[in-house]
Amino acid sequence: MGKLVLGTAARYAAEPFPSSFCFPSRVLLRYTGRMNSLRDDLQEVLLTEAQIQQRLDELAAQLQRDYAGKDLTLVPLLTGSVLFVADLLRRLPGPLRLDFLGVSSYHGQTSSSGDIHITKALQLNIHDRDVLVVDDILDTGLTLVRVRDLIVALRPRSLKFCVFLEKEIPHHAEARADYVGFRIPDKFVVGYGLDYQERYRNLACVGVLKPEITAKAAVDTRRAG
Ligand code: IMP
Ligand code: MG
Repeated sequence: MGKLVLGTAARYAAEPFPSSFCFPSRVLLRYTGRMNSLRDDLQEVLLTEAQIQQRLDELAAQLQRDYAGKDLTLVPLLTGSVLFVADLLRRLPGPLRLDFLGVSSYHGQTSSSGDIHITKALQLNIHDRDVLVVDDILDTGLTLVRVRDLIVALRPRSLKFCVFLEKEIPHHAEARADYVGFRIPDKFVVGYGLDYQERYRNLACVGVLKPEITAKAAVDTRRAG
């Protein structure tokens, strides 16, 4: 048995797939090429995958302490917070509820459009619950302020905000996050959930795009927040 396992491990090391696994080579090549090109579009990596994962350990420990014995409902905002919340959830061992809220803000470019609209309403009743809104980034702060108004009207027991990133810029006067993963300079970033025209969300790091990528922007695509 031990011999068989060793033999299998050695074969994985020597080949990308075990020889019993048949993958059409054309499909494999195309897939690999696309994934490589995403990373190549970055001019700078601001946060590596290792830095992000280490910070998440700290954030999750803090949340666990603060919400011990409470009835936590996580409300991540679609779509940018999906990687962040998925990694956070895995680190929170206590009971919690999860309900996504869909909000849309920017319109396909790299600056704010100034308003948001709801693309997916909450399904759970959050009245008298401890609600933690999770978002990808606090930029102008408009999203946070609008979402706060919307959720306060549903009368939760408590309401806090957790953002993966916060840009070091003056925000909307009433925008404040209770938990912040990283504070970053005022640059347009992609990766780890954050997109540019719906691309780059699946990068495990956070980086800044090369200027030639953003220069050839399409104007009319609405981006989901
Ligand atoms: P707000 O300006 O704080 O309302 O942020 C609105 C939304 O814009 C965020 O939730 C993100 O989805 C998006 N956003 C803001 N800054 C960036 C960025 O640097 N990269 C990608 N998306 C961003
Ligand atoms: Mg967002």
